[in-house]
Amino acid sequence: METKILQVNPEQFGDEELQEACQVLRNDGLVAFPTETVYGLGGNALHKEAANHIYAAKGRPSDNPLIVHISEVKSLYELAADVPEAAKKLSEAFWPGPLTMIFPKSDIVPYGTTGGLDTVAIRMPNHPVALALIDESGCMIAAPSANTSGKPSPTEAGHVALDLDGKIPMILDGGPVGIGIESTIIDLTEKVPMILRPGYITKEMLEEVLGEEVRIDPGIIASDSTKKPKAPGMKYKHYAPKADLVLVEGEQEAVVAKINALVREKQAAGLKVGVVATDETESLYQADYVVTIGARSDEDAIARHLYKILREFDDWNVDAIYSESFSTPRIGQAIMNRLMKAAGHQVIHV
Ligand code: TXA
Ligand code: MG
Repeated sequence: METKILQVNPEQFGDEELQEACQVLRNDGLVAFPTETVYGLGGNALHKEAANHIYAAKGRPSDNPLIVHISEVKSLYELAADVPEAAKKLSEAFWPGPLTMIFPKSDIVPYGTTGGLDTVAIRMPNHPVALALIDESGCMIAAPSANTSGKPSPTEAGHVALDLDGKIPMILDGGPVGIGIESTIIDLTEKVPMILRPGYITKEMLEEVLGEEVRIDPGIIASDSTKKPKAPGMKYKHYAPKADLVLVEGEQEAVVAKINALVREKQAAGLKVGVVATDETESLYQADYVVTIGARSDEDAIARHLYKILREFDDWNVDAIYSESFSTPRIGQAIMNRLMKAAGHQVIHV
């Protein structure tokens, strides 16, 4: 299959490109499209054939459910069998935006889309191209991140093409995304609302709007496998670069010294080594590849660059990667959740 890549300027895009993409969706084909978090791989959420195509293209286990993307709140009432008061508050506060909510599903949602579950994940993305695509096609769009299963999520169209070229009919290239890590997922079917995946919308932000406590799924904090995460996708090894990735945590000076020592050790053994630094420390490292993820004070930049950097190390065929740790105040939890998974929880404290 030939993959057609269409440029769409998010600020001003032509109807022609949009209509072509809508036609693909209406025929149960797949369109990769930009959202504010990461690129999604979209198909008609109400047709199980489209879901089958999504699983096949990504090489994704079919028990891992998809998020349904909507463009108006009224669609929520068609997809969810019950919409609690909490959901009304959260949708008013954060939609369109990087928040996914879990509901009991209605009968129109096929089990193909929910990976066999009786619940459905729903979000309204905050991106003009995504919203127009849903509106114009008349389809609610089931979309996982548009990467091959196990790879970092795509933050630009080129990443999608690397993974899915020849496997899907169309990619809408709307340039690099704004946030760079996937949406926060909150489960509203529990007595106490529970975060199944941390993201840009934090626990504190959710608690402030709800006026009640929000829990974090214990299964995503445990570094061992004693507790299973509730979101099926969180149990898979994910975001993993090809090289062995180790995080080093502590005071800046000690971290730099430790990483440089580890690099020398690996290089002495003939290995190629990469380092993930910050603007502040970039010049202090000696390695085969030193990349900066951004200024330490700019956590939005850290989130935005994370997946791109992990993919770059794959291109350079390094054998080992050492990274500083980023427990920044607001979205640090989401960033570290992704990095810890990429590192298989290998952390050195100095
Ligand atoms: O930002 C995002 O959420 C992006 C963009 C494209 O919207 N999408 C995304 O989808 O990250 P995906 O499929 O890569 O991740 C969805 C996660 C998976 O971990 C999946 O297991 C979980 O959501 N999930 C989906 N439906 C669920 C359900 N009914 N119950 C529990 N977890 C669910
Ligand atoms: Mg994904």
